Amino acid sequence: MTRAYISGTGFYVPERVVTNAELATLMNTSDEWITARTGIKTRHFAAPEEGTIDLAVPAVEQALEAAALTVGDIDFIIFATSSPDHYAPGSGCFLQDRMGFGEIGALDIRVQCSGFVYGVSIADQYIRTGSFRNVLVIGAELQSTNLNMTDEGRDVSVIFGDGAGAVVLSATEEDRGILSTHLHSEGKHAKHLWLEAASSYTQPRFNKEDIDAGRHWLQMDGREVFRHAVVRFPEVIREALEANDIALDQVQLIIPHQANLRISNEVARRLGAPSDLLYSNIQRYGNTTAASIPIALAEALREDKIAPGDYVVLAAFGSGFTWAAALIKW
Ligand code: UT7
Repeated sequence: MTRAYISGTGFYVPERVVTNAELATLMNTSDEWITARTGIKTRHFAAPEEGTIDLAVPAVEQALEAAALTVGDIDFIIFATSSPDHYAPGSGCFLQDRMGFGEIGALDIRVQCSGFVYGVSIADQYIRTGSFRNVLVIGAELQSTNLNMTDEGRDVSVIFGDGAGAVVLSATEEDRGILSTHLHSEGKHAKHLWLEAASSYTQPRFNKEDIDAGRHWLQMDGREVFRHAVVRFPEVIREALEANDIALDQVQLIIPHQANLRISNEVARRLGAPSDLLYSNIQRYGNTTAASIPIALAEALREDKIAPGDYVVLAAFGSGFTWAAALIKW
């Protein structure tokens, strides 16, 4: 039986570190509020000359090196982002050209915070069915250029950060790798966390009226998102474990999307797990949307938190609402 395993990981965050104190010079907020409500102390913001794929390239280079593969070995690119370089074409195409991949397929997916786990699921299907041997899955986000840095946008803008993570998924006949993936959505909650403009409902699509009304900023009903996140995370983690007949106490690490430290702690409580079973680096990077799980996975590996044979769960929740999990035997 062919399975997909993670043969290499990498991540990159832009150089510029933005502290809570710096944000407090732009809007009515404070280090105390941000720390207490989210756990975040710093995030990284891209430089003016950087775009989304500029963050992705170093992450991909590391993942290829860790997998002992070269550009020519990759059969397919899956690029998860909600903040692409351009509206069209997808960032995967720009990355294909920049890094000199052959004329392989490049698929952008927009599943926001769940995008990386959805991408892993797609790659897993191609590898299990024998279509591809090595698939690159990237989560990369450049949110900082679309945050409303005024009092009006403070509930959203203090949360997000920029960054990229990448993995190579490779085929194996061994008893390891992605055991199963579980994907969900519930679009009736779409407007609790959305980016309304530019929209196909307006003519022309990009217009001053939308900008004047602030519809081009990410809008979020934080409490509503929080309320659903603390239910869906445990639910989908349990779903993944039950599908494979694995008990929670057999799991060495859960890597949740880094949405809010309070959400992760509440998820641990509801699962009946120690809070350190859930990996956290949101303190340093904020919420990097589709990039947060591959960044956390790469860091957890560097910190020797994952060993061969370990069961690891990736779990995501975000805009859509969408939520997803992957159970991996390392
Ligand atoms: O990636 C997945 C998507 N995102 C999430 O998962 C985010 C989920 N939601 C959250 O993380 C939290 O809801 C937030 C961190 C966004 C907000 O925390 P909260 O504890 O839910 O606060 P709140 O929205 O209930 O606001 C409490 C107070 C309000 O003031 P009043 O009405 O009590 O006077 C807000 O106006 O905090 C105020 N507030 C702020 N104060 C200082 C909101 N944002 C800020 C801020 N600084 N940045």
